[in-house]
Amino acid sequence: MAYIDWNASLSVGIAGIDEQHKKLVNSINRLHQAMIDKKGPELQREIIAEMCDYAVNHFALEEGMMKSTDYPGYAAHSEEHEQFAREATDLKAKSERGELILTIVVLSFLKNWLKNHILGTDMKYVSHFKRHGLE
Ligand code: FEO
Repeated sequence: MAYIDWNASLSVGIAGIDEQHKKLVNSINRLHQAMIDKKGPELQREIIAEMCDYAVNHFALEEGMMKSTDYPGYAAHSEEHEQFAREATDLKAKSERGELILTIVVLSFLKNWLKNHILGTDMKYVSHFKRHGLE
């Protein structure tokens, strides 16, 4: 069983966004497996860098859609993105310096943040985006 199971409850029903969320889920699952398999720092660095790249691209996509449709929750939503980006950048820097120790605490943070953000914050824009014809 994967650390984070992708299922219909995580789908926002907008294909491009769901695909990016799946990539983030996959990165966290791979990181979790790397921890279980006691893989070396090189693989951890690679997955964390990939996760950061996915997150940056994903946040830019969502924020672009919010701006282009005058989404009223933009400020609060983008603040959550910035919070995650800060944490992810910190993990990336630690992994590059060889200082990162992957623990279940780190993995739980990533998992909980992503699930709570998708289910709580992202879901709020769905009807707004759909009203603007974004699918
Ligand atoms: Fe899907 Fe707001 O991140």
